[in-house]
Amino acid sequence: MSRRVNLIGIFTITLSFCVLLFFATKNSNYYDDYMRKENISPRYKYRNYYSADSQQQQVTQNSSVTIQDVLNYQRKQIAEEMQYYEYPNGRFGVDAKNLQDLTMETNGMPMRSVIISTWRSGSTFLGDVLNTLPGNYYHYEPLLTYDIVQIRGPPHDKNAIKSLKKLLRCNYTGADMHEYLEFGASHNYLFSHNSRLWNQCQLFPNFCYQPKFLEPFCKLFPLQSMKVVRLRLKIAARLLEDTSLNVRIVLLIRDPRGFLQSRKHRVWCPGNVDCDNPNIVCKDLISDYKAAEKLAKKYPMTFKALRYEDLSLSPYDMTQEVLQFYGLAFDDRVSEFLDTHTKQNVGGVSSTFRDSKQAPFHWTKELPWNEVSYIQDSCKEAMRLWGYKEAANASELMNNFNPLLPFPDFLV
Ligand SMILES: *[C@@H]1O[C@H](CO)[C@@H](O)[C@H](O)[C@H]1NC(C)=O
Ligand SMILES: *[C@@H]1O[C@H](CO)[C@@H](O)[C@H](O)[C@H]1NC(C)=O
Ligand SMILES: *[C@@H]1O[C@H](CO)[C@@H](O)[C@H](O)[C@H]1NC(C)=O
Repeated sequence: MSRRVNLIGIFTITLSFCVLLFFATKNSNYYDDYMRKENISPRYKYRNYYSADSQQQQVTQNSSVTIQDVLNYQRKQIAEEMQYYEYPNGRFGVDAKNLQDLTMETNGMPMRSVIISTWRSGSTFLGDVLNTLPGNYYHYEPLLTYDIVQIRGPPHDKNAIKSLKKLLRCNYTGADMHEYLEFGASHNYLFSHNSRLWNQCQLFPNFCYQPKFLEPFCKLFPLQSMKVVRLRLKIAARLLEDTSLNVRIVLLIRDPRGFLQSRKHRVWCPGNVDCDNPNIVCKDLISDYKAAEKLAKKYPMTFKALRYEDLSLSPYDMTQEVLQFYGLAFDDRVSEFLDTHTKQNVGGVSSTFRDSKQAPFHWTKELPWNEVSYIQDSCKEAMRLWGYKEAANASELMNNFNPLLPFPDFLV
């Protein structure tokens, strides 16, 4: 029970964090901060960002601010954010002892964390948790330009992997990246989840989609995270094969009844077979399982799988586990994030609150029995492999149905 309460807390905090960032970017007095070189903690700055600012227009249009100015400013911000960061220093198989060991601009090796998932499976949530870590640069769904398709092999696999590798190395040059950036220029959501970049894009839109800005900017960041929902694991595995990339991958799985129910309410999904056809999406789940079996043996240190439902039920434990796997310290900011939401839970528990804490299990009440039954028939194998229990009838489903069986042993 309290674990579910925790889940809602995380969601609430994530949401407020986004709102905060939104206001931060809207109202921040970037130029003043920059020029005064105030030595105040980043957390205080976030609060400060709330204050209305009449100079923002001038700041945005001050043509004497150069790319180099923005880089210098951001470099300082990162150093400040990372001031109390606990560097791995040998733990979790990572040697890095300081910021320079982790930034590409100093020829360091960043911590690269990738989430492989599919639509409506909790990856935005997990991605946002990772992005609360200091010094994180978030490559949010770089394959958006491919539209609503799953990449399982040719014709797109090679180009997709190539683009992901380039982004992980902060390379924004070439025809593929040109297309990617063009898409971004007309679809804010490509960059807006990357909060630290987006802050600067809001202030300096003329720099935002230029490789000559993005490349050095990206290389300032010690933590590089990425989430991808359009690439199946057997293809994504190629990122692990390239050991010079030093990537760690988490595969995030969800009950197909849950994600299919959720997808029904998205305008972009219905009618796209890769998204709404139970047979096809459950073949993907089976293929992911087979790939996971191999990767768990071959790359025990750099591959991990987990279920959205387990993450939602034990957000503290699972977040800790995920961060540890990625080699990332359970930083102040994450625990503050989680602590705050616990306190809020103790405070007021409104009825909406009570409703939404059931988020991953909403489908048990919302999805008509004939659809549940159809999905179960199409997904028998996928559900058996990933440990999701079939409901026998509509009344079982209505009566606090617990869909979770044990998670596959070899992946624990
Ligand atoms: C524009 O930026 C320069 C420094 O880069 C500064 O000297 C100047 O005062 C700024 N102008 C305005 C209107 O803020
Ligand atoms: C970036 O990618 C382009 C095209 O894919 C390649 O030609 C170039 O060498 C790469 N840049 C760096 C610095 O690796
Ligand atoms: C529904 O399934 C449950 C669990 O298998 C069973 O105990 C119950 O009798 C069934 N109810 C009906 C109405 O068939």
